[in-house]
Amino acid sequence: MNARISLPQPETGQGPGLWGVLNQRRSRRRYVDRALSLAQLSQLLWATYGISGARGDRRLRTAPSAGALFPLDVYVLVNRVADVPAGYYQYQPEDHVLVPAGHEVDPQALRDACLGQSMITEAGAVFCLVAVPDRAVPRYGERAHRYIGLDAGHAMQNLYLAAEALGLGCCAIGAFRDEAVNRVLGLDGVRRWALYLGTVGSL
Ligand SMILES: Cc1cc2nc3c(=O)[nH]c(=O)nc-3n(C[C@H](O)[C@H](O)[C@H](O)COP(=O)(O)O)c2cc1C
Repeated sequence: MNARISLPQPETGQGPGLWGVLNQRRSRRRYVDRALSLAQLSQLLWATYGISGARGDRRLRTAPSAGALFPLDVYVLVNRVADVPAGYYQYQPEDHVLVPAGHEVDPQALRDACLGQSMITEAGAVFCLVAVPDRAVPRYGERAHRYIGLDAGHAMQNLYLAAEALGLGCCAIGAFRDEAVNRVLGLDGVRRWALYLGTVGSL
């Protein structure tokens, strides 16, 4: 079992200009075989769903969320990241750490469940946005399902922009067999289910 990984502090000040990053953002599906750095992984995770402040005793994040309920969990399948053993981890935004997810994920099985999209195994890391409806359904009922999808879109766009800003390639993946992906990721498909994946790799 891999150990908990402390992530370096993310950059929150300087960075490439937003307009240029927006103008350049594209879905990039071909990656070279060069590991991501731990600093890059840290920045990508923070940008996707990290803590950026507080309101009262409520932590706020880089992505907006209906009712500030944050009904997603972010997992990452590490294929090639320097100083991080390959494996499947959960991102814990409160402490900005990765913890082993307690479940082994076979990258090839995940690729197969995603209709054979080869970027799954070629990426340095695959980000998995997992829906946790119990955080939003008690307040919003049926409408929670709409909000969860909208929240995931915000987080994925953050991942895209962060990857672009770091000179990395990113591609969203929504085309997959739900049951197969949930099985590969160890999710029950009801209380926790795979909503949206994103690959990031070196260019
Ligand atoms: C909800 C959603 C699901 C997507 N799923 C996939 C996918 O499974 N595989 C893929 O290669 N691209 C996927 N994409 C990327 C789109 O193909 C891409 O955004 C579109 O072609 C526009 O290109 P651009 O992102 O380079 O501007 C997805 C994008 C979105 C927003």
